[in-house]
Amino acid sequence: MTPEEFRRLGYRLIDRIADYRSHVGEYPVMSQLEPGDVRKRLPAAPPEQGHDLSKLIDEIDAILGPGLTHFQHPRFFGYFPANAELSSVLGDLLSSGLGQLGINWQASPALTEVEEHMTDWMRQLIGLPESFQGVIQDTASTSNLLALICARERVTAHGQEGGGLQVEEVPLTVYTSEQSHSSIEKAALLAGFGRDNVRSIATDEAYALRVEALEQAIEDDLAAGRKPCALVATVGTTATTALDPVGEMARLAERFGLWLHVDGALAGSAMILPECRWMWRGIERVDSLVLNPHKWLGAVFDCSLFYVGDAPHLVRVMSTDPSYLKTSVDAEAKNYRDWGIPLGRRFRALKLWFLLYSEGAEGLRARLRRDIANAQWLKEQVDAAPGWERLTPVPLQTVCVRHVLPGLTSEELDAHTLDWAHRINASGEAYLTPAKLDGRWMVRVSIGSLLTEREDVAALWELMKKVVSS
Ligand SMILES: Cc1ncc(COP(=O)(O)O)c(C=O)c1O
Repeated sequence: MTPEEFRRLGYRLIDRIADYRSHVGEYPVMSQLEPGDVRKRLPAAPPEQGHDLSKLIDEIDAILGPGLTHFQHPRFFGYFPANAELSSVLGDLLSSGLGQLGINWQASPALTEVEEHMTDWMRQLIGLPESFQGVIQDTASTSNLLALICARERVTAHGQEGGGLQVEEVPLTVYTSEQSHSSIEKAALLAGFGRDNVRSIATDEAYALRVEALEQAIEDDLAAGRKPCALVATVGTTATTALDPVGEMARLAERFGLWLHVDGALAGSAMILPECRWMWRGIERVDSLVLNPHKWLGAVFDCSLFYVGDAPHLVRVMSTDPSYLKTSVDAEAKNYRDWGIPLGRRFRALKLWFLLYSEGAEGLRARLRRDIANAQWLKEQVDAAPGWERLTPVPLQTVCVRHVLPGLTSEELDAHTLDWAHRINASGEAYLTPAKLDGRWMVRVSIGSLLTEREDVAALWELMKKVVSS
């Protein structure tokens, strides 16, 4: 494709995206297709001859449209906000268009230095001390894995440079709350700890990790001759946005010499609001943390920020030094390949820069405050409505609810919960994600899509009340 063809088709594609975003609120939120339906629309074999792409651009809505669940819909209340601000989309387009590959500083000084700068801007915005340095990863799952590998290497004094975990005399243990995201357990398994050595710590009535249970678990492992290695705190758990006590966990980490990592995948974005920072009080004492601007903040997926207090440690753990990647400036410049797993990296910082430049910190703060206020409004409605239960505190933008019918067994109540949530999703009018809490189903209302205003939350609440009584 020539640059001139790209220009012609690019304008058309941008028009399509703009039209999609203008009308996104008119579609059924959840895709109504069955598995296999999208593939049926595609030719069985790849094209032998090239075609004019304008034909595909004309057809793309018909092929993809029904197969999209609309995360950018104002009535999307599922999972977590996965906001893709259009300013950020333009940054991502520029990243693709420039075709940069950051395998070392020299390969793209701009890519490296804008990433350094954006991670530092974000550090300032969320109120982290200057001692923390950041890097952009693809996802929080990757960031969590890096944290546990760093923990393993600190506790084993860089054991990977010799026999690794295979020569450790005693097993290393990891501690996290029973409410933490599945990616923590996955990270522990991938980092070689083994499931037997991952402790799932009990939580309190607000679903936050119980420090005394954590302390006991560490003591038990020490008494049994095991080697405690890492604590993972979650600020904003996936199911209920519970807040683990970071400061108290830091006290234990310091006392026992453990690595402390904070998973703030969703809630980390809220730390641009000074009034939310109490939620991770003690954060300056942690070893590493992750937040995902690709969730609530609005950077288009994928953009996960991983910060460490001891960057040289991360670099030692992750670095490789093959001759073909060496340059004369390696001692002076950052080589982000040594800050994570992949060698190649995209120019992800552009989508963050475009977002911050276009919205400004004040614009982002105003939107997050709007969402928090909307969640408080819904909380008040639920609290005042007979037959409805609110199951957890609402520190952020997620409200966890159940509708209770008198006389139902637990199993029947579960069936009722799943039924009304399913009927809302199937209606296409809104989208919600049920989840289990204490072994029983409930429904999470996760507020914070870019276009979600109070009227959308009010419409959802009316729909919920209607569905349970029909
Ligand atoms: C607390 C928490 N951690 C980690 C993740 C995983 O995020 P990612 O998709 O970026 O790996 C999520 C996603 O929901 C989450 O809520």
